[in-house]
Amino acid sequence: MSELSVNHLLGIKYITEEDIHLIFETADHFKEVINRPIKKVPSLRDITIANLFFENSTRTRLSFELAEKRLSADVVNFSAASSSVKKGETLIDTVNNILSMKVDMVVMRHPNPGAGIFLSRHIDASIVNAGDGAHEHPTQALLDCFSIRERLGDVAGKKVVIVGDILHSRVALSNIFALQKLGAEVKVCGPKTLIPKYIENLGVEVEGNLQKALQWCDVANMLRVQNERMDISYFPSTREYAQQFGLTKKVLDSLDKEIIVMHPGPINRGVEVTSDVADSDQAIILDQVQNGVAVRMAVIYLLASKIKHHED
Ligand code: CP
Repeated sequence: MSELSVNHLLGIKYITEEDIHLIFETADHFKEVINRPIKKVPSLRDITIANLFFENSTRTRLSFELAEKRLSADVVNFSAASSSVKKGETLIDTVNNILSMKVDMVVMRHPNPGAGIFLSRHIDASIVNAGDGAHEHPTQALLDCFSIRERLGDVAGKKVVIVGDILHSRVALSNIFALQKLGAEVKVCGPKTLIPKYIENLGVEVEGNLQKALQWCDVANMLRVQNERMDISYFPSTREYAQQFGLTKKVLDSLDKEIIVMHPGPINRGVEVTSDVADSDQAIILDQVQNGVAVRMAVIYLLASKIKHHED
């Protein structure tokens, strides 16, 4: 297969295992490209991409912009905080105004779950979801699985525990879909109040004890507590959370095997992981960020190849 089954990347739920393998094989090539002295290819010289960020981002926004520029696309950036959204303009009006300037692809982060799906039904451009509320963050899950494959050779058969604030996490949901499609076993671990009630319907087991979860897994993906999405207190104190669900070097060293530690960022050092864990050889946090550029290049390249006027 040399073509994605979809015209948009709205979530991992909507793509196939074959799509994910195609993205990984394409990303392998782009990873080699971005490690060359000249890190650029001319593939998307005829494509214009708008990055629309209605919510804060460091990694995802910079990673998409670098990926687009390394493919030689024309890029425009939009941040809601400094836009006419503040004057009451609707999402469709904002995006249609941008598209009338001949934009082919929209990369969008939005606080509302389903914002990308809504947009894909109303506008004529390829949409990439860069995170929609607590729903999905598909390119994060792709780069996470690509990084596991890089470190462990394969994702199939691996045991992955996702630790922390599962309830508010788009990274957790996209990772669960991606890991399962690729044949990994997934457990979640965290305070009961931060585990969604539907989780077992997704074929995911809950383990309340961090030490047991770590002893079981090959990979621990430590998620950030998303205070900005909480309107009530979900646990007594940050100190107590860190004591029960924070990963320390002492805990890591007490395991009878060497596991990989991941974190999508931004990290709260001393809460989800201590600094000596974040900076240890077992942590692949910066590999994840580096792989994000190659994976996003692959996603954009493969979606662009489905746009009619574009001939590679
Ligand atoms: N991992 C992630 O989405 O980070 P940002 O919010 O900084 O983009």
